[in-house]
Amino acid sequence: MKDLIGKLVDVYGPSGHEGQVRALIEGLARDAADEIRTDAMGNLIALKRGTGGGKRIMIAAHMDEIALIVSYVDKKGFLRVGRVGGVFLPTLIGSQVRFANGVTGVVAREKWLTGGSTSQLPKWEEVYIDVGATSPEDAPVGVGDVGVFVQPFADLGTRIVGKAMDDRVGCAIALQALRTMGESPNDVYFCFTVQEEVGTRGALVSAFGVEPEVGVAIDVTDTGDTPESQPMSVSLGEGPAIKVMDSGFLTHPGVKDWMIGSAERLDIPYQLEVLLAGSTDARAIQTSRAGVPAGCISIPTRYVHTQSEMVDMGDVEGSVRLLVDLVTQPVTF
Ligand code: CO
Ligand code: ZN
Repeated sequence: MKDLIGKLVDVYGPSGHEGQVRALIEGLARDAADEIRTDAMGNLIALKRGTGGGKRIMIAAHMDEIALIVSYVDKKGFLRVGRVGGVFLPTLIGSQVRFANGVTGVVAREKWLTGGSTSQLPKWEEVYIDVGATSPEDAPVGVGDVGVFVQPFADLGTRIVGKAMDDRVGCAIALQALRTMGESPNDVYFCFTVQEEVGTRGALVSAFGVEPEVGVAIDVTDTGDTPESQPMSVSLGEGPAIKVMDSGFLTHPGVKDWMIGSAERLDIPYQLEVLLAGSTDARAIQTSRAGVPAGCISIPTRYVHTQSEMVDMGDVEGSVRLLVDLVTQPVTF
């Protein structure tokens, strides 16, 4: 499982450019799925057909990661940038990004070594990427090219760290559930979605395509267990978090009880999550068509939307067990 997550996080896949992640997942999912297809937006949908009498369940894990996009190349070859998804300024300066063509750049800021520049946060207009070019003609990337963080996967033992753990860890959990689940009455559609970080766009269209009767997103959530962090009742290593609410979503009560019932029956430690900022693909599924009961299994994650997102393997394993049970039991609400 660690190897699988390590492979997934290291792949290039900003929102709108998920092709490499999709190819990797498709190769790993093909043998386990009864049908596999890619829709017009690029969502990968792997169906595990049920034995009959069950429901159509949609599982969503997003393939895309946050990134920087080049908006302008100046006379000296420095690249001005915009954000693709929620990149934070405080973690940015001095980091490296890699573009689709393999070019690496350093994220830097104006007024380097002038008063306060190393102790104060820059404004977004002051941020640029240095790819070692000296002119626009010389720059190996240009306007519209997208760079993702460079940060090698790190195995700390029980805990692992990488860029794009949001949401490749969710992809790994969904993939593992697909590959290990036994027979089920339900038709289970494992959807590896695009463009979540720019507003859950892929999940929305795949929910129209799949027409699920129940939806479950698998995504990361913040924790409240680091020094003087926001008070939040989610900690690393205490089990998968069953979402109750986030800033864009209220879990369907039937789905919440279904998840809690499963965790308790299998003795999987779990936590209840109320996330005050941020949302997931579950919101898009829930508000598609005439409405779909939906919920979310959240993987507690430290340092979300930085280059070094940390998760706990116990939480990951618990999430796989919970997901397999949910999709293989009759849905009773
Ligand atoms: Co995210
Ligand atoms: Zn996410």
